Amino acid sequence: MTIINFITYFFLIIIFLRKINACSFTPEYELEIFNGLPPGSPPLTFRCASKDNDLGYHTLNVNQTYQWTFCQNFFRNTLYFCNFQWGSKHQGFEVFNSKRSKDCDGGLCFWLAKSDGIYFKSYTSNLVKKFDWQ
Ligand SMILES: *[C@@H]1O[C@H](CO)[C@@H](O)[C@H](O)[C@H]1NC(C)=O
Repeated sequence: MTIINFITYFFLIIIFLRKINACSFTPEYELEIFNGLPPGSPPLTFRCASKDNDLGYHTLNVNQTYQWTFCQNFFRNTLYFCNFQWGSKHQGFEVFNSKRSKDCDGGLCFWLAKSDGIYFKSYTSNLVKKFDWQ
């Protein structure tokens, strides 16, 4: 094998490892977004994506939930970012980052949209407000 071939294979393997969802190596996470906004208010719309996975646009009415499950990639640098819109208000942030995977204790990252901001809890942690609407 020439050095050029070796380098090519090396990078192909790296690219492959970056793409696979390594459920055999890392625990599975459940991410949930819940619309806890006041009755009669505009729906919550959002778009979430990671580097490899665009979940597209979603609309939640009051008391509706959206969830997905995933595993971190092989290199444990998975990052999901969401942009939220509620009427004229908006906010965007990382809903999951491998660097802070401990936040999603027990494998649950639960985000709750309320009128005064966006709250977070895991399976074991208490509900805390993380972001104000902008
Ligand atoms: C949402 O759920 C709360 C608590 O269960 C309930 O009081 C409220 O009426 C519900 N609102 C709608 C629009 O379903």
